[in-house]
Amino acid sequence: MVSVLFVCLGNICRSPLAEAIFNYQVRQRQLQPYFRAASCGTANYHIGDPPDSRTIRNAIKNGITIQHIGRQFDITDFKEFDWIIPMDESNRDNLLRLQGADKFRDKIKLMRTFDTENRGADVPDPYSGSEKNFQEVFEILDRSVRGLLHILVAELK
Ligand code: 4NP
Repeated sequence: MVSVLFVCLGNICRSPLAEAIFNYQVRQRQLQPYFRAASCGTANYHIGDPPDSRTIRNAIKNGITIQHIGRQFDITDFKEFDWIIPMDESNRDNLLRLQGADKFRDKIKLMRTFDTENRGADVPDPYSGSEKNFQEVFEILDRSVRGLLHILVAELK
């Protein structure tokens, strides 16, 4: 079982959506026996909170339901997960600043490493944005998850 942890700042917008899209695409391809996904934030602002209502609504509009409870990254996650996928460089830097992070550097890959458009860029934080920004994030994550799964599936063989 390959495990993937999606990481953003608050764990109420980007990373819970990434997790939900990942699970959706995994189910569509009947890959459930092979992959496990989770998400968390580097900040403690939204521990125990549901995802942002705008994220939930936008996801539903795109045919995806999200169920998640906010949690903060814990250093035990470095061992627990095979792939750790921060949404932007700031999230990645937050992870790399944690004690002992250096040993796990190779597991950490920016989400848009796997995007076919604007590869390696940040997934923009939609928190202070409009519906248009939430939709843009959805489309970025949809493409990036597809790219990530392509690589994960190739590595199974
Ligand atoms: P996320 O978005 O990192 O994609 O969940 C944010 C959510 C909350 C805050 C910032 C970003 N905040 O400052 O509370």
